[in-house]
Amino acid sequence: MMMPTDSVEIVEVAPRDGFQSIRESIGTDRKVLIINALAAAGCRRIEAGSFVSPRAIPQMADMGEIAQHIAWPDGLRYMVLVPNRRGIELALASGFREFGYVFSVSESHNQNNVRRSVDDSLEDLAGLVERLEELTEPWRLRINLATAFDCPFERRQSAVRVAGLVAHIQTLISGAEIALCDTTGRANPRQVKALFTRVMQASDDPRTTWAYHGHDTFGLGVANALAAYEAGVRVFDTAAAGLGGCPFAPGATGNTATEDLVFAFEECGVTTGIDLARLLDVAEDIAAIPGGCVASHLRHVPRERVAG
Ligand code: COA
Ligand code: ZN
Repeated sequence: MMMPTDSVEIVEVAPRDGFQSIRESIGTDRKVLIINALAAAGCRRIEAGSFVSPRAIPQMADMGEIAQHIAWPDGLRYMVLVPNRRGIELALASGFREFGYVFSVSESHNQNNVRRSVDDSLEDLAGLVERLEELTEPWRLRINLATAFDCPFERRQSAVRVAGLVAHIQTLISGAEIALCDTTGRANPRQVKALFTRVMQASDDPRTTWAYHGHDTFGLGVANALAAYEAGVRVFDTAAAGLGGCPFAPGATGNTATEDLVFAFEECGVTTGIDLARLLDVAEDIAAIPGGCVASHLRHVPRERVAG
């Protein structure tokens, strides 16, 4: 049963998970306008982009410039994806203090995505945590466990392996946010609820917080997020207009659309803090980006019906 006074945090990931899927350059100015508009629509945490190899993802090569031009109002948190130490250093130099570190549950996707073994990714994580612990100012780390439910090459992943990786992460860092990611959108609600329940019950770090990152490839994005909510998750990654698709996971389409999940939660009495009408305006701007692949339900419903 959903409690009427409950609230969730939506992490808007279109500027990272969405933009990275677009081949041709979007342009720094356009990205900055969209990020600022997302903040104005009430998004309180935005994944602004990634500090990755520009050869792997050329679209992210202007992160330093983006950092200089976006607004940094109080109360707005920016997160950036970093795959390695180099990414952390560049992100720190640009003023970011919240990082998303990604590696995959499955070996083949990890090789494809970050070109290393899962063991090497865990070792790198240990080094990153040591580096962050040298900082004198506050910082936060999110660990994105990609392919936690399904891998495009190896299919369904074992819950035992996911729980083992979570336990390993917790030996390296206490108090991280751990996201189980349905990279391919192939999970189902029962699986999502069961995996989160299992992993959260097995966790012996009470400071760990949990997030769900889902794609909508098979149309189950909202249902999967609600299932994660039922398991106790309160942080959800979504992309306005449903922009997205992992370039290293064949066939994966966009993230669950922010407007669809916001609508679903608000209809259930769970608050998100996001202004749906303003968010839909930004979703239109995002849908107009050439080369983007978008999908959402709410954008196609007459506005007056959404508001009612
Ligand atoms: N930022 C900018 N440049 C980086 C970088 C970073 N974080 N990490 C590495 N590079 C550069 C290196 O300097 C090197 O450049 P050079 O060839 O001009 O000297 C080049 O990228 C390759 O570096 P290397 O350390 O050998 O990495 P790799 O080729 O083994 O690739 C990753 C590993 C992780 C850097 C790369 O695969 C990557 O950036 N992947 C991004 C994955 C991603 O974002 N996926 C989608 C999100 S889930
Ligand atoms: Zn994703």
